[in-house]
Amino acid sequence: MSEYLLSENRDGVLVLTLNRPEKKNAINNAMWVALREAFSAAAADPTVRCVLLRGAGEHFCAGVDLASFAETPPGEEHPFESAARAVVEFDKPLVAAVQGAAVGGGATVLFHADIVYVGESLRLRLPFASLGLVPEWGSSYMLQANIGAQRAAELFYTAEWVDADKALDYGIAAAVVPDADLFGHALAKAAEIARWPVNSLREIKRSLRLHHLPAIDAAIAAEQAGMQRQAGSPENIEAITAFMERRPPDFSKL
Ligand code: COA
Repeated sequence: MSEYLLSENRDGVLVLTLNRPEKKNAINNAMWVALREAFSAAAADPTVRCVLLRGAGEHFCAGVDLASFAETPPGEEHPFESAARAVVEFDKPLVAAVQGAAVGGGATVLFHADIVYVGESLRLRLPFASLGLVPEWGSSYMLQANIGAQRAAELFYTAEWVDADKALDYGIAAAVVPDADLFGHALAKAAEIARWPVNSLREIKRSLRLHHLPAIDAAIAAEQAGMQRQAGSPENIEAITAFMERRPPDFSKL
């Protein structure tokens, strides 16, 4: 495993902890590789019956490391792609415990979790429009499937912040609990799941995901095409430069 992704099997619940708290658990390339390997290994490991995903420290995840795009040579697939596929294809229950910031990929991963528990401090955002980018991880489909077309469109177009109560109201989260109780609550629920035979859990997940998977594949293909058009565009460069320079982006001249 990697220093960026901690892994611990607790009686059949594999607890995966995104571990880069000084960067709000923003996912760099090494962490994407670790995530891909962890989900592939968890699928194949008969002692894992459920995965619980969480972030170290006060925040779940600030999404793709915005500085990491430069690490991937042009023409080479960004390691995000294969990690995202491993999560989409993961065939056992996936529970998430989410507090603080859940932004970009730190939000869209949640739409593939079977159950999401959030802390009261949740601040979730789909920042793609503000970054001059397009949604990823099949979220352009999954968010609509989870919360409805208009609510999804509003969150994507405005890039507004979603708090814990709204996440619960919209059905992005199954429950809100105080931050201090979040991990314990999510772990207890994951343990309830992990009591049951893994083959049964797998069959249930297969049935639940059956209708979604082809649509997710189509969404990811469309998103990748859009991302190729937008990544490195003047508006994308302005957005990332502004983030690094800690100033608001200025799209007025573009
Ligand atoms: N990529 C790279 N670095 C990131 C990051 C990201 N996605 N998100 C946060 N960080 C870094 C910051 O640069 C900062 O690093 P520094 O201390 O070396 O300067 C550190 O993490 C702390 O972040 P900061 O912005 O100071 O914390 P905050 O509490 O003010 O805000 C967020 C937290 C999550 C709201 C804010 O960091 C943010 O909006 N991040 C960008 C998220 C994003 O757009 N992700 C989508 C990628 S598609």
